[in-house]
Amino acid sequence: MTRKITLSDLQSMKAAGEKIACLTAYDATFARIVDESGMDVILVGDSLGMVVQGRENTLNVTMADMIYHTRLVRRGVKRALLVADMPVHSYDSPDQALENAKRLVRESGAEMVKLEGGAEVTETIRRLREQDTPVCGHLGLQPQSIEQYGGYRVQGRESEQAQRIHADALALEAAGTAMIVLECIPRALAREITAALSIPTIGIGAGVDCDGQVLVLHDVLGISSYIPKMANDFLRQGGSIRGAFDTYRHAVKARTFPGAEHSFD
Ligand code: KIV
Repeated sequence: MTRKITLSDLQSMKAAGEKIACLTAYDATFARIVDESGMDVILVGDSLGMVVQGRENTLNVTMADMIYHTRLVRRGVKRALLVADMPVHSYDSPDQALENAKRLVRESGAEMVKLEGGAEVTETIRRLREQDTPVCGHLGLQPQSIEQYGGYRVQGRESEQAQRIHADALALEAAGTAMIVLECIPRALAREITAALSIPTIGIGAGVDCDGQVLVLHDVLGISSYIPKMANDFLRQGGSIRGAFDTYRHAVKARTFPGAEHSFD
């Protein structure tokens, strides 16, 4: 299919039970190959801090970095919906968020911006929606808060935390969020949240019951310095870069990825 993927296509996919396949990209060449593989969504993730810049986390990624990489990726993408991460401290107030989101959308070609947080970011999301900027939320493990967690840990195992994540998901939807990434939460919690929302959920380490899946490109190719449990080296199965992306996409659509070994209880 060469027709451009829109937000309403993602909504229809959720309604029809068709899984949404999403992968990150950070430059034009990989973006073109990912796009040609038929991925539904391409995310310019602030994971670029690790896989492109060689840092330990996402905390030094700047707006200038995100604008640069989103522009590169934009040149390679024709069909997939293009989402760009808002880096840490680029949305500390609704005004700042609006200004920076406009730069990612108008100057760089993103069709949606992603930001981390629950109820505390709903005012910001409302503000972006008033200006017609589609927003993707990000709950569960929020890498921009890594220093507060003291490490990459599964979130929502205790019932109070699980209830908060669930309530945050409902608050994000009510504020006008178009899609939510659920990272590193127990499969059962992701299933409940996905069933409770009318907008799509995209999981990473959140089990097979989310409406779609996202992985970091370098993990899918098995070339990250560390491949997390929730990811998989699809290059082994696919035999080539294009084969890896096709294998990942097919596994998401067929619900064979993620398996129990990539998920948390
Ligand atoms: O930065 C990123 O790549 C992400 C995905 C892993 C969801 O946020």
